[in-house]
Amino acid sequence: MSASATLAVVVGARGGIGAALVQALATAGRYGTVLALSRRPEGGHPSGGAIVEAYVDVTDEDSIATAAALTASRGEPRLVIVATGILHDATLRPERSYRALDAGSLARAYAINAIGPALVAKHFLPLLPLQGRSVFAALSARVGSIGDNRLGGWHAYRSSKAALNMMLANFAIELARQRSEALCLGLHPGTVDTALSRPFQANLPRGQLHSSAQCAQQLLAVMDGATDADSGHVLAWDGSRVPP
Ligand SMILES: NC(=O)c1ccc[n+]([C@@H]2O[C@H](COP(=O)([O-])OP(=O)(O)OC[C@H]3O[C@@H](n4cnc5c(N)ncnc54)[C@H](OP(=O)(O)O)[C@@H]3O)[C@@H](O)[C@H]2O)c1
Repeated sequence: MSASATLAVVVGARGGIGAALVQALATAGRYGTVLALSRRPEGGHPSGGAIVEAYVDVTDEDSIATAAALTASRGEPRLVIVATGILHDATLRPERSYRALDAGSLARAYAINAIGPALVAKHFLPLLPLQGRSVFAALSARVGSIGDNRLGGWHAYRSSKAALNMMLANFAIELARQRSEALCLGLHPGTVDTALSRPFQANLPRGQLHSSAQCAQQLLAVMDGATDADSGHVLAWDGSRVPP
């Protein structure tokens, strides 16, 4: 298939990592169109060229269905990356103790970090080609690993990412029955210099903070190198598997 006929989709295209992925994909020129889906689709990326912007809110299933229909009208996506997520904002604070649990904050974290990507999968997995290699990936986080949890805390974020990881593992099993070369992956990007990590960067060891451009290159390489056996797992930025 010629590059001009191929399609990549980034959901969360205005986030720190999502925007870098859109730029890296457009620059690499492997896809004829890079569909950049976000809540703020107006002029976030240079117009013209391969990038096409459109609206999506992952907590609004109708908007996901509309974005999927737009995608389908442009072809079959071989790459769909969900780069949305929330750790903190004015009302949501990562909890240090179970005493800080708040039902509203938990529900919000689950809606954006787990249910949102799952609904994107519901509408976009059927668009993957029936033949040939394709990848559906969602940005997860190492802290969503139950086996690797040594520090505790951040209850809403950790548990919403753990729920996401289980969804991805489930989807991988189902997907393999219909599309033998389609992979469903979680990705841990490392600690990346974005709005999401900014309040937590102070005590990082030197060299541990990656730029979003670096991160995008690393994640694209990880997805390129992933095999059937990786489907359903979370892969870190260096290609290693994060324990479930
Ligand atoms: N940065 C890190 O160190 C790090 C580490 C581990 C994992 N991650 C994961 O990587 C992913 C990307 O994070 P990031 O660092 O790029 O953070 P970011 O810069 O804050 O980007 C997150 C994006 O998610 C979007 N978003 C939130 N709620 C949404 C909704 N309802 N519908 C559509 N979009 C929504 C935001 O949209 P708006 O722009 O419209 O607000 C924002 O663009 C997240 O899943 C995060 O958990 C990041």
